[in-house]
Amino acid sequence: MAKINKIWAREILDSSGNPTVECACQLDTGYIAVSSVPAGTSTGTHEAIELRDMDKKRYLGQGVLKAVNNVNTVLGPSIMGMDPTDQKSIDKKLNQTDGTDNKSKMGANATLAVSEVTSKAGAVASNMTLYSWINVLAQQQGLEPYLKMPTPLFNMINGGLHGAGNLDFQEFHIIPASSKSFAEGLEAGVEIYHTIGLNLERRGAIHSVGEEGGYAPNLFTNSDALEIFVESIKQTNYSIGRDVFLGLDVAANSFFKNGEYLIRDKTSPMDDNQLMDFYKTLNNQYRLAVLEDPFAEDAWASWKKLYAMFKGQVTIVGDDLLATNPKRVEKAIAEKACDAVLVKPNQIGTVSETINVIKIARQAKWKIVVSHRSKETNDYFIADFSVGVGADYCKFGAPARGERVAKYNRLSAIENEIFRYQK
Ligand code: PGA
Ligand code: ZN
Repeated sequence: MAKINKIWAREILDSSGNPTVECACQLDTGYIAVSSVPAGTSTGTHEAIELRDMDKKRYLGQGVLKAVNNVNTVLGPSIMGMDPTDQKSIDKKLNQTDGTDNKSKMGANATLAVSEVTSKAGAVASNMTLYSWINVLAQQQGLEPYLKMPTPLFNMINGGLHGAGNLDFQEFHIIPASSKSFAEGLEAGVEIYHTIGLNLERRGAIHSVGEEGGYAPNLFTNSDALEIFVESIKQTNYSIGRDVFLGLDVAANSFFKNGEYLIRDKTSPMDDNQLMDFYKTLNNQYRLAVLEDPFAEDAWASWKKLYAMFKGQVTIVGDDLLATNPKRVEKAIAEKACDAVLVKPNQIGTVSETINVIKIARQAKWKIVVSHRSKETNDYFIADFSVGVGADYCKFGAPARGERVAKYNRLSAIENEIFRYQK
């Protein structure tokens, strides 16, 4: 049995140029695993707490030395000598050491960094690939023992808090048909991505990119972005409804003000019912396959109404609504508020707790969407994680920019490996 010899952390930069936590784990065999954690921009209020130094003298207050120090002096020493393959006990220890409901003492950026890095060390100690090892952990927690290549939700156009201030909706997705292999889906995604770029250029709409590598164009309305999708897909060999589908992460929290929703498609603010009608019209026109965060994070009644309306037609995904939190997922299942969970490990703070949320959602026959964050590192843990837990979808941004393609390239490698093993 291998043992954890040493854990240490340091501050590195994420894709937005802000500090984040990188953590290393050395086993008594000498092997060293390294992992780093991402951060959100449109963070929900129900997420676990990310510890920032708030010391204006360093990195404009965005430093994470407190979280780093918590790893080096408290969390790391608390799991010294433990078996890296005993993820459940490690995560339990991290939780006990933090002692709060939302990781506010140690910081979820500290606990997750340790939890992730020990899972990487656990994979090596078990002589397994990371995705196979995650699958073992998932089975230990009661999930089905199947590995699955997730279908990517490519975030081709970035608006809201991720964009350039021109669009209200945060993410405009193109989704390959799930019958396609990952390689085929990736090829379709890339060809459509570049075609969208050319069309934006032709229109004189700025085609620089937003936080997740999708274009951040100066269009007049949110519907215009979907119209450009339709136009662009027509110029390729793919067709909507057969090869690819459309989706949205509205991230409605970001344009919810004083009880109303204001978007540039409408001249005056909308109440919940009016916004629901707007989604109905959009769906009639564009046949959405996936709709994430259509209402604010606590608008339970509206979520229920919308889910009842779209049931069986559109997959309704809860991100800010659920915050990868077991209690909120259980409530949403009981109240029939949606039928898919967006899974972001740093919203809850450990690998085991993340798997537990997936298990709860699976029992309700929900879809699972494993997601990156807008501020990422090149770490591809999340790609292995999505395969290991058998996620239906993965959301890793556009098929462009280093920190996004790190995940897609890793999925390609995994598909290649699984295919080779099966032959
Ligand atoms: P975030 O956005 O990482 O900025 O929170 C991602 C999302 O809303 O899905
Ligand atoms: Zn979201």
